[in-house]
Amino acid sequence: MSTVLDIINTRSSIRKYSSRPVEEEICRTLIEAGLKAPTAANKQEIHISVATADNPVQEEIQKELNPDASVNFYYNAPLIFYLSGRDDFKWSAVDAGIAVENIHLAAADLGLGSVILGCMERILNGEKKAYFDEKLSIPEGYSFLVAIAAGYPDTAKEPHTYDFDRNVSILK
Ligand SMILES: Cc1cc2nc3c(=O)[nH]c(=O)nc-3n(C[C@H](O)[C@H](O)[C@H](O)COP(=O)(O)O)c2cc1C
Repeated sequence: MSTVLDIINTRSSIRKYSSRPVEEEICRTLIEAGLKAPTAANKQEIHISVATADNPVQEEIQKELNPDASVNFYYNAPLIFYLSGRDDFKWSAVDAGIAVENIHLAAADLGLGSVILGCMERILNGEKKAYFDEKLSIPEGYSFLVAIAAGYPDTAKEPHTYDFDRNVSILK
């Protein structure tokens, strides 16, 4: 059985997916992994809108983002989870970040790949915000914060390297 640390040590963002559909039960588990994330003051304000790749909204967002791209923004993943948070709660973005990482790690634990997505933010919160809020069932008073695409992987990737000394200060 894998530990959380095993998953943290081996996970990476996946940008190529197999055509294998994701079982409903697995999808539900991923949603619940997001809902089980801690939130500031236990507000539980993060809303998760789940779209399958064949939902027309995917193509609509892609068209606004870059109609000529060779790969779409969700890398043809079968599932896309859109996380939104309350405009009037200062911790919403942090809470969404924690929830999306829970989904990312849970996906890896279940043998799926996933990639966190922010590139559509300017479209979803731009001049067509009201239109996309409706299409994505984003509640009133909420805004899109971050998304994650997930599916069975058709590629593997080594974990990224990092520079401990640059990024860490151990205080004496
Ligand atoms: C807030 C956030 C937004 C991101 N947006 C995108 C995105 O729009 N498209 C994409 O391909 N990857 C996106 N990523 C994934 C990062 O590019 C990836 O995590 C980073 O390159 C490190 O690679 P790794 O996750 O494989 O370690 C995003 C990651 C985060 C945390």
